[in-house]
Amino acid sequence: MSSEIQLPSVNKVDLSPSQQPKNKVVVCQGRSCRKYHAEKVFSNFQQNLPTDVELMSVPCLGQCGNGTMVVVEFDQTWYSEVHPDEVETVIQQHIIGKSPVKEMLYPKFHK
Ligand code: FES
Repeated sequence: MSSEIQLPSVNKVDLSPSQQPKNKVVVCQGRSCRKYHAEKVFSNFQQNLPTDVELMSVPCLGQCGNGTMVVVEFDQTWYSEVHPDEVETVIQQHIIGKSPVKEMLYPKFHK
């Protein structure tokens, strides 16, 4: 069984602002990630994400044991071991500031 999910890629070239795809944050809510406060991570995103960013939960991202797993879909950034208190950093620095939080990146996918 493959442990990697396939998220849709996005072509960032030649799109007018009205054609830009909506940004989306995916938060795992699987059993393994729930051991690491995934429900609180999700609710913190839910309460604080800008309204133009979609929030989605999934039953597993195939990376159990590294939770809570979070994916910023727009630029395919994977975060591991996301703590509820770190959600604000991801929102401010990455979602709003467009700069991924390097120290939180999932090392398996971001060397
Ligand atoms: S339960 Fe979160 S990656 Fe599997």
